[in-house]
Amino acid sequence: GKDLDVSGVLLAWYDRHARDLPWRVGPADRAAGMCPDPYRVWLSEVMLQQTTVAAVRDYFHRFTARWPTVEALAAAPDEQVMGEWAGLGYYARARNLLKCARTVAGEMGGRFPASHDALRGLPGIGPYTAAAIAAIAFDQPETVLDGNVERVMARFHDIHDPLPAAKPLLKERAAALTPMRRPGDYAQAVMDLGATICTPRSPACGICPLRDPCLARASGTAAELPKKSPK
Ligand code: ADE
Repeated sequence: GKDLDVSGVLLAWYDRHARDLPWRVGPADRAAGMCPDPYRVWLSEVMLQQTTVAAVRDYFHRFTARWPTVEALAAAPDEQVMGEWAGLGYYARARNLLKCARTVAGEMGGRFPASHDALRGLPGIGPYTAAAIAAIAFDQPETVLDGNVERVMARFHDIHDPLPAAKPLLKERAAALTPMRRPGDYAQAVMDLGATICTPRSPACGICPLRDPCLARASGTAAELPKKSPK
């Protein structure tokens, strides 16, 4: 029904099943309400822009071992950073990464801004990345809409309008579900649900925490959503 606490159900699921990723805080710190270091959130989100979690893990470890802070990264010579980036692809991302690190270190006292709008003005930070950093590192109730979230929303609401035209509707539905309590954990919970259960092919509806209220599950349409416009 309408009053079902969807975000509460997802947060309870996340507390039990969150993926152990190097840019997150552990369960004890999470329970204490801690957010991860904005530098690490930013670095992970830029690396994840066109690359899978599996491929990013080792790069993330090497970068943070070598440059543990945004000031350290800002002070690194370009060729060292480009060398560590080699293999991740999309090298404009690495150039913007350095530009952004130098702006934050040089003009912001080494502190990332907390608001979506201020983050959005930094090199390499688009609307998705700004929302992700504001939510995950600063616990702001921003709506984070990536491919995982689009798929979860299309299925939960059984929306058959094709992407990309359906994006504004999916964003509106995602925004309506975003909670004021623990919005950063909530954003990551939807990402994890999309990555591990509400997967593009063969979704594991039988073990999904949202199986009862999910409209696509009720209609048997989950595996065919979201629809895409022919190219
Ligand atoms: N994909 C993009 N950002 C992510 C995050 N913070 N956790 C897991 N997957 C992601």
